[in-house]
Amino acid sequence: MSQCGGHAKGRVTLHMVSSLDGFIATKDNSVAWLEDTESVYEAGVALSEEEAAAFVKSIDCYVLGSRTYELALELGWPYGDTPTVVVTSRQWPPAKKSVEFYSGDLKTLVDAKLAPRYRNIWLVGGAMLCQRFLELGLVDEINLTLAPVLLGEGLRLFDASPTEQRWNLKNVVAYKNGFVELSYSARTA
Ligand SMILES: NC(=O)c1ccc[n+]([C@@H]2O[C@H](COP(=O)([O-])OP(=O)(O)OC[C@H]3O[C@@H](n4cnc5c(N)ncnc54)[C@H](OP(=O)(O)O)[C@@H]3O)[C@@H](O)[C@H]2O)c1
Repeated sequence: MSQCGGHAKGRVTLHMVSSLDGFIATKDNSVAWLEDTESVYEAGVALSEEEAAAFVKSIDCYVLGSRTYELALELGWPYGDTPTVVVTSRQWPPAKKSVEFYSGDLKTLVDAKLAPRYRNIWLVGGAMLCQRFLELGLVDEINLTLAPVLLGEGLRLFDASPTEQRWNLKNVVAYKNGFVELSYSARTA
């Protein structure tokens, strides 16, 4: 884990996988659409297991809303032992050692608790928490992966975007399985 020194400040990346029509979950919370292996894009890249592991290792901290937390517990914990902050106003039974619950002001969470401690902070959902982070200007990068599917209905990632915001495209990666990863950084005024 790379911790921040006295001078560096951690950056928050909003990471999400969306359908082509902008949904991040089906109505019944099925994730089968994320695991579709039928699509083959020959010119795309495929990450080796080592590359994928190195990528995951570069993440210093995860932040998630309580509904995403509930689903992660149900479907199989994907965050390993990496420090994970669950934003919630509820009381929860004791969790994994790496999990911390937070309720309160989100700007304080980022500025006082996370950014001084962690370099690479990943906000991994769900829609509600991501929208709050965006409204408050707490997101430095958006990493949006488009899955090759139209879901028709479900939970929208950007349902309640309050104002127009411009972002700079930083990178595009097309994968062999037809998924496309788009990376953007926030424009500073
Ligand atoms: N496709 C993807 O990449 C992806 C990734 C992650 C999740 N998802 C999907 O997203 C869905 C969950 O998203 P969601 O929008 O329903 O819920 P969510 O954002 O995961 O969680 C919402 C909860 O977070 C807490 N919360 C949010 N903002 C808060 C604040 N400012 N202060 C205190 N607590 C706050 C509240 O918890 P309390 O009610 O406990 O107070 C709220 O009910 C699931 O279906 C999941 O499968 C998809």
